[in-house]
Amino acid sequence: DPNAPIQIDPFRTVAKELKFLTKNIRQLLGSGHPTLDTVAKYYTQSEGKYVRPMLVLLMSRATALTPKVGRQSSDHSVDRPISPSAILADKNPSAPDFQSLTAMSNDTAYNQQDSDILPSQRRLAEITELIHTASLLHDDVIDHSQSRRSAPSANIEFGNKMAVLAGDFLLGRASVALARLRDPEVTELLATVIANLVEGEFMQLKNTAKDEKNPAWTEDTVTYYLQKTYLKSASLISKSCRAAAILGQSTPEVIEAAYLYGKNLGLAFQLVDDMLDYTVSGEELGKPAGADLELGLATAPLLFAWKDNSKLGKLVGRKFSKEGDVQQAREIVAQSTGLEQTRALAQEYVDKAIQAISGFPDSDAKDGLIEMCTKVMKRRK
Ligand code: FPP
Ligand code: MG
Ligand code: MG
Repeated sequence: DPNAPIQIDPFRTVAKELKFLTKNIRQLLGSGHPTLDTVAKYYTQSEGKYVRPMLVLLMSRATALTPKVGRQSSDHSVDRPISPSAILADKNPSAPDFQSLTAMSNDTAYNQQDSDILPSQRRLAEITELIHTASLLHDDVIDHSQSRRSAPSANIEFGNKMAVLAGDFLLGRASVALARLRDPEVTELLATVIANLVEGEFMQLKNTAKDEKNPAWTEDTVTYYLQKTYLKSASLISKSCRAAAILGQSTPEVIEAAYLYGKNLGLAFQLVDDMLDYTVSGEELGKPAGADLELGLATAPLLFAWKDNSKLGKLVGRKFSKEGDVQQAREIVAQSTGLEQTRALAQEYVDKAIQAISGFPDSDAKDGLIEMCTKVMKRRK
């Protein structure tokens, strides 16, 4: 059909950059200690969805065409190698990971001439995936996860202690890479993301602002959930989109648009995630389905159902811990419009995300950002 709209595959728009992403992340994670090296790189073996780096790369490319302010370039220090801890380096001076880091700036894929994406923006994409992966390592310990990306989760494969330490190591290496960008504003943004992840996780430990036995549904219930969702999921996406625009020396208006796109897409992304936990099988997800209720978590579909069915308050209050609670909650949600309302809210956020970047000049990258919104709504895993 010659009249069919041309399908933009956001993945293809930045395929070349993504190809080097895993390789570079593994280089950033090189450790002279063989076990730490293995655990730290474990989640880089199974390819993730790369949602965050893809957004950073697309945003970098889409904002490359927007007006610029004259800022000092800070790209000179991006590719300096990260030194291993002294003792281990002496014992293992030929650890290949550290040598190849030096070679990176010579990599043809990192030749700035053939791309409108700056080396600092590529490095930012890697940093976002490092922070995300660190949070998954910690999250799987907290959630007692059994599987992730269709394989045993790191806590199962290596134990809680190593999984936690590996997560910390990833944050350490992400921080070094971040400092190397030599941009204090970007450093502050991504450091705030790390704090936000913890704040979001703490908010999640309690289902509602007040810890009550039989809480009543109020407007605050949804506000609290959305605040938690921003901190847990949308903070990383929104602030890294913002950071991409900052590194590209965009104007304040463009930086704000990039942030709003990321914030709204991030909220939609997590709403859909919470919906899939109810609607998709564990096999398809690559991780156990229906896990949230088992963990005592009341997410959007249940919160919407609760508004029309006060019975859920008691179950929320005791975190679905009594025999039969999970099953009962599941049935009430299934008979409610909670899932539809969750999808509708996600769609509202996606529309706002698209609206935020509507002023950007037309480009494949902009189409890719829009297509990411469609993908978020269509995804099954
Ligand atoms: C996945 O959520 C987890 C997160 C989005 C963030 C978790 C954050 C922490 C554990 C805070 C501390 C960590 C760092 C690195 C600062 P989920 O459990 O709902 O999703 P899942 O089904 O993929 O496990
Ligand atoms: Mg989890
Ligand atoms: Mg969790």
